[in-house]
Amino acid sequence: DRTIKIAPSILSADFANFGQEIQAIEAQGADWVHVDVMDGHFVPNLTFGPPAVKAFRPHVKTIMDVHLMITPVDPYIQAYADAGADILTAHVEAGPHTHRTLQAIRAAGMKAGVALNPGTPAETVEQLLDLTDLVCVMTVNPGFGGQKFIDMTNKIRRLRQMIGDRPVHIEIDGGVDPKTAPLVAAAGADVLVAGSAVFKGGSVENPSIYGENIRAV
Ligand code: DX5
Ligand code: ZN
Repeated sequence: DRTIKIAPSILSADFANFGQEIQAIEAQGADWVHVDVMDGHFVPNLTFGPPAVKAFRPHVKTIMDVHLMITPVDPYIQAYADAGADILTAHVEAGPHTHRTLQAIRAAGMKAGVALNPGTPAETVEQLLDLTDLVCVMTVNPGFGGQKFIDMTNKIRRLRQMIGDRPVHIEIDGGVDPKTAPLVAAAGADVLVAGSAVFKGGSVENPSIYGENIRAV
C-alpha cells in the first residue's frame, strides 16, 4: 500500500555521484527526492547549497523536496527557486519570522514547508497552517544521517488534529526504518524521509537493493 510517500534523503548517497544516485532511487520507486541543506551554523554539519541543488534538478523526475537546515533563510529563497526546488522547507527555529518566510517561499512559486526540531512543540506552527503545504516533524536532532529515532508520535497526532481537512502533508525525518515507519504512519504521517534505511547495502551498480529497502519501509 503506497498512500505513504517515501522520500529518500541523498545525504546518505555517494556524494561523488549524485546524478546517478537520484536516477537509481527514482527507478527503484522513490516518490520524492529529499535534499538536506546544512550550513554548519544552524546545524553542526555542512552539505551543499544552491549551485549543487541546481545540478541535481535535471536528474529529478519526481518532486525535489529541499530541507533547509540553515539560518537565515530569507536571503536564499530566490536562489532555491531558481535552482528548481519544488518544496522548500524552513525550520520554525531558524528565525523569528517564519510567517514571512513561508509567504516568501510561496510567492517565489514553491510549496512551503515548515520543520520542527524534536524539542519544539506542535503549537509553534498552529498559526502557520494556512501558509504551509507540509509540516516536517524531525525525529532526530538534525545534522546527521543514521541517528536513532526519537518517538514523536504524540506530536504527529496533535498536528494531524490541528491540520484538520487542510491539504497539508506531515513528513517525518530521521531514523525512519521498517520498525519505526508503521508507528509514524499510524499517527498520521504521510511522507517518510529515509536516508540510511534506503541507501544501506546498495549502490548505483547494485540499485535493486534500494528498491528492496524502499519497499521494506
Ligand atoms: C537529518 C536529515 C535527514 C537525514 C535522515 O538532519 O534532515 O534527512 O538524512 O537520515 P536517516 O534516515 O539516516 O536518519
Ligand atoms: Zn531532512
